[in-house]
Amino acid sequence: PEGTRVGPDGDLLVGGVSMSGVAARFGTPCHVLDEPHARARAREFRAALPEAEVLFAGKSSPVRAVYRWMAEEGLSLDVCSAGEVEVARAAGVPGARVLLHGNAKTDDDLKAALAHGVRRIVVDSPAEVDTLGALCPAGQEVLIRVIPGVDARTHRAITTGVSGQKFGVAPEALPAVVDRIAAHPNLRLVGLHCHIGSQVGRVAAYEEAVRRMVSLFPGPLTTLDLGGGFAAPYRPGESTFDITGLANRVRIALRQECAARRLPVPNLLIEPGRAVIANAGLTLYRVVAVKPGFVAVDGGMSDNPRPSLYGARYAPRLIGRASGARRVPTAVVGRHCEAGDLIAEDVALPQDVHPGDVLAVPATGAYHYAMASNYNMTPRAAVVSVRDGQTDLRVRRETISDLLRRDLG
Ligand code: LLP
Repeated sequence: PEGTRVGPDGDLLVGGVSMSGVAARFGTPCHVLDEPHARARAREFRAALPEAEVLFAGKSSPVRAVYRWMAEEGLSLDVCSAGEVEVARAAGVPGARVLLHGNAKTDDDLKAALAHGVRRIVVDSPAEVDTLGALCPAGQEVLIRVIPGVDARTHRAITTGVSGQKFGVAPEALPAVVDRIAAHPNLRLVGLHCHIGSQVGRVAAYEEAVRRMVSLFPGPLTTLDLGGGFAAPYRPGESTFDITGLANRVRIALRQECAARRLPVPNLLIEPGRAVIANAGLTLYRVVAVKPGFVAVDGGMSDNPRPSLYGARYAPRLIGRASGARRVPTAVVGRHCEAGDLIAEDVALPQDVHPGDVLAVPATGAYHYAMASNYNMTPRAAVVSVRDGQTDLRVRRETISDLLRRDLG
């Protein structure tokens, strides 16, 4: 995070708070969020695209405090489940500022959204139109998710802008969906939506998406939602997504395409998750066991499944004490019963790392807490936020009793 300093004793300070202190006080593994960093990134998106509505992708960090910070910074919220709707409600984010999407929204998802007055719902398939038409109140705003045919060139599991994946409506099928919405008195089509993928570094992909989407407009619409996916750096030396470049190219492309087609310029929506919150986070672990070439910590794929799912790479470091020992190539592995349970494969760590040491893994603010599991009956980690020397426990650590309570014998 931005508010990170290394003290003379090797301790890591984030937001003026000692990370080895957090590890001692709240236990490990522990997800830490730098609140000022998250807020600053949110403001950066707003400042780069003042004409756009920026919706925080709530799935990246479904934490009440985070939703509240985002709302306070002027962001709206994109949610994809009844659970995320309830976090929004609990965080005090009004339905007027929420948008729901999803390729298989259940009745429970829709009911939760409608009960909270979620203003916009993204239709993902022709058949869903009738479900929505039957449930929604008069005047319900809907968008249609379209497959733009833009390859974001990211990992296959998070590529969503091309045909052959499960999201959205093919361009050929769009006119029929538009007609079907028009036939429902309660539904009001306001725009089109797309999302080309996640951890996308290529600004040009968004420009292509704008051009393609405007070319698919069935007539004047007020809204174009470009989705999210803007990449975040995970290791030193990786570059930050160029938000200003994105803003300029998207703005120009939108004006040009609309002018060429004599369409009014729609309101632009974007849905960043990772680019706002990933680098505000880090995870603290305690070293449990050491073998030549391996350091095993007290977490792993239950709090960070990303290396196993996407081949994601991280840069763990030793904190809490200074070490002059030689650095040797080390695999940082987890505590779970699989050889693939890995946090980082080849990092240079001091040779004297020993049980009890604390490791910090940066860039874990997005899709870590959000994707945590209870594999091996492991209680999920706590989420703590820091700012100005102050620490707040945001999500308490799960206990084994929490887990056992659900098992009815
Ligand atoms: N909008 C829609 C419709 C989405 O499906 C997503 C993410 C976003 C916005 C936000 O994308 P972001 O800006 O955060 O990249 N678990 C994976 C990422 C899955 C993203 C799913 N959709 C990972 O850890 O890499």
